[in-house]
Amino acid sequence: MILVTGGAGFIGANFVLDWLAQHHEPVVNLDKLTYAGNLETLASLQGDARHVFVQGDIGDAALVARLLAEHRPRAVVNFAAESHVDRSIHGPEDFIQTNIVGTFHLLEAVRAYWGGLQGTEREAFRLLHVSTDEVYGSLGKDDPAFTETHRYEPNSPYSASKAASDHLVRAYHHTYGLPVLTTNCSNNYGPFHFPEKLIPLMIVNALAGKALPVYGDGMQVRDWLYVKDHCSAIRRVLEAGRLGEVYNVGGWNEKPNIEIVNTVCALLDELRPRADGQRYASQISFVADRPGHDRRYAIDARKLEAELGWKPAETFESGIRKTVQWYLDNPDWVAHVQSGAYREWVGKHYSPA
Ligand code: NAD
Ligand code: TYD
Repeated sequence: MILVTGGAGFIGANFVLDWLAQHHEPVVNLDKLTYAGNLETLASLQGDARHVFVQGDIGDAALVARLLAEHRPRAVVNFAAESHVDRSIHGPEDFIQTNIVGTFHLLEAVRAYWGGLQGTEREAFRLLHVSTDEVYGSLGKDDPAFTETHRYEPNSPYSASKAASDHLVRAYHHTYGLPVLTTNCSNNYGPFHFPEKLIPLMIVNALAGKALPVYGDGMQVRDWLYVKDHCSAIRRVLEAGRLGEVYNVGGWNEKPNIEIVNTVCALLDELRPRADGQRYASQISFVADRPGHDRRYAIDARKLEAELGWKPAETFESGIRKTVQWYLDNPDWVAHVQSGAYREWVGKHYSPA
């Protein structure tokens, strides 16, 4: 089996769902269930013995050690993190605790467990750490995209905390020989995305008749990756990545924010036109910029393609259409996030492990 951390969040939950749709190998899912953790996303796994959910913190070394000893996973995939840049600006402390201190405790527990493995079990073991392109800082308009050797220049408390975690993971490989893999990916989008991030926020606000807040001039560029493509990249790196290596994961979809917002509006105009005949784009409102806002991210994913044969399956056009349609088809999931009812799911459906 594998141990996934942060598997009730956006990417982690998509990963768990896809994993169990494709493998029979069980997953132990350790998640603290912060505001970003949503077990309703995993409702389709209710009663599925291949999914063992445990509410807890990656920084709880005793708990992680117990789970490792009990379940003897062949791999750990670490998604657990505080992930929202705006929250890191308003309150960085949780980011330091989970992303840095928590990753440190996880590494220590995994090192002790791996140290006790023998033979093929020891050789086969992997720790895959999921990170972000934001550790590389901001690109100028004509700069080449980030490669794996781009220097680290994090600019927000979020990206600085992720950079620190990447350095710890790297050090545990170089110092202790821990069999690690690191992936640095670009902005994900897709189903089950918490509506505080750009794309789901725009869909949800548009449908609610609210303003669509675009920071600054809206010309900041992000490189969008459909979440299921990210999950397939992680599976591929876990399967065949070279130990100690870093792999960038991107969708080859660089777009300015305003174009993303206009695309979402145009899709909604087509799929769920406003009752008053107006365009959703009329709800766009330019607001004050984010402090220290990175201007451009772009991922060069050629290493992953050349070494491991991975390519994204979705274009931006196909992925964004699926995403908008998913939000239209799942109003209950959205309503429960907005009302806070999703936080009651754990009490109703899971007993403590
Ligand atoms: P998310 O915020 O949706 O989910 C994070 C999950 O981690 C939540 O379920 C939360 O409850 C859990 N968690 C938080 N602190 C924890 C702790 N101390 N112990 C155990 N669980 C904890 O984030 P996401 O978008 O799914 O991102 C997953 C990973 O991918 C993160 O490491 C993030 O840095 C990275 N990443 C995300 C993106 C993106 O576009 N979303 C892009 C690049 C990298
Ligand atoms: P976000 O989804 O928060 O991801 P990140 O900051 O990790 O890239 O934001 C994506 C881009 O969209 C980023 O440039 C900030 C911008 N943005 C807005 O313009 N308005 C918003 O309401 C949000 C949440 C983000």
